[in-house]
Amino acid sequence: MKSLILAIDQGTTSTRAIAFEAAPEGGLRPVAVSQIELEQHFPHPGWVEHDAAEIWAATLQTCREVIRKAGGVGRFVAIGITNQRETSVLWDAATGEPLHRAIVWQDRRTADVSGKLAAAGHEPMVQAATGLILDPYFSASKFAWLLDAVPGARARAGAGEVKVGTIECWLIWKLTGGASHVTDATNASRTSLMDLATRTWRSDLADLFKVPMSVLPEIRGCADHLGDCDPSLFGAALPIHGAAGDQQAALVGHGALKAGDAKITYGTGAFLVANVGSKPVASASRLLGTLGYAADGQIAWALEGSIFSAGSAIQWLRDGLKVITESRQSEAMAQGLKDNGGVYLVPGFTGLGAPWWEPEARGTIVGLTRDSGPAQMVRAALESLAYQTRDLLDALAKDGAPKLKVLKVDGGVTANAFAMQFVADICDVVVERPAFQEMTALGAAKLAALGVGLIDDLEDHPVEAPARWTPRMAADERARLLKGWRGAVRAAIIAAH
Ligand code: G3P
Repeated sequence: MKSLILAIDQGTTSTRAIAFEAAPEGGLRPVAVSQIELEQHFPHPGWVEHDAAEIWAATLQTCREVIRKAGGVGRFVAIGITNQRETSVLWDAATGEPLHRAIVWQDRRTADVSGKLAAAGHEPMVQAATGLILDPYFSASKFAWLLDAVPGARARAGAGEVKVGTIECWLIWKLTGGASHVTDATNASRTSLMDLATRTWRSDLADLFKVPMSVLPEIRGCADHLGDCDPSLFGAALPIHGAAGDQQAALVGHGALKAGDAKITYGTGAFLVANVGSKPVASASRLLGTLGYAADGQIAWALEGSIFSAGSAIQWLRDGLKVITESRQSEAMAQGLKDNGGVYLVPGFTGLGAPWWEPEARGTIVGLTRDSGPAQMVRAALESLAYQTRDLLDALAKDGAPKLKVLKVDGGVTANAFAMQFVADICDVVVERPAFQEMTALGAAKLAALGVGLIDDLEDHPVEAPARWTPRMAADERARLLKGWRGAVRAAIIAAH
């Protein structure tokens, strides 16, 4: 029987395909998965690139494997896509070949562009229109950089010979054999070019960022029909019926569908997304106004706090500092210490995101003594996840959000019980991790399932109880630790100027 959704989750470090089926008890459950790691390129300090052709090849390979494992393409009704957001691709419309490596969301090469625009006083207008701060994180300055860097690209843009897009847009173009140049509204909301209220491109912003409107995709809803696959790829013209940026998809995956619900995904970075309901809310504390989802007449706006380094700090302990050989060793090492020994790590490896927005900040360690060794580094890196989360929750509170009842978490680092207990303690909130962890892929699958009518709503239907961590730290201890953290962040920012 035809009852499966193929979810593509193209993330910063890997490409995954997961087949979901509609469960008799309601909701969706996974039946097959395939994953391929993605190579990271660091051509200059602060630059991060991906090979868009490699991303496409991995997407094809993982989808084919999952289709085979799940019993053949005839069992699938639709595809849903979710993706690392902001990462920007420029390609040739005739050949479908990328014209440059993709510029990854973490990349800081356009810091001078956002700096100059901010100095010229454009930030209030950009924030009011798009919900976003001026920062190289977002796609617009990356699109413009690509158009300038590739010889002839600007001239060809006017004739429609080159296209730009974020990763879901690139994948939809490739999956449809170049028939659809579309993006979904959540990904579009991360470019700095979309008007948040109307969900349309703004020509004044396109002029400001020097991105010609002719290269931009069409903006669609998250559960809309986005095109049909070229049948030569999988053996059938499967419809693509849903797309959302990965953090927004995780919001849907968690079933955080009501105003006041919030989730944080600890991946390479960490992204807190708080559902604020059916009207956009402007942040006065440097969070981002963004779209939660717009699907089948349902709409939710969100405030987001973006942390640029979370899991990547643990990777750095493993691959850079080499004080652990596997990420999971970090839990026992941190737990083996009675406290942090006054050591704090501010993981500003690619600058600091919300609420600081310091693109030139870099990683900073404070409080070292002759006793400090690998275990203190490990503990400080794990603790930094909680401190950064706390900064975001404080910003959310300043923006008038009610205190969270529960913080829903997902992502690789949530396997670390020390880190999760520390998040509960420092944030003074109950932390809840669902038994099924693939919230991002689940969200994309739900959107596509809604789009094709396989499910009736986006509600969550968990079958197993979540893991929970309850705060147990005394208030004065929390205050003492937060004071140390704030001093460390100040040191990182001062060093950047
Ligand atoms: O904004 C960037 C974000 O979408 C990347 O997420 O999970 O690939 O690190 P992730």
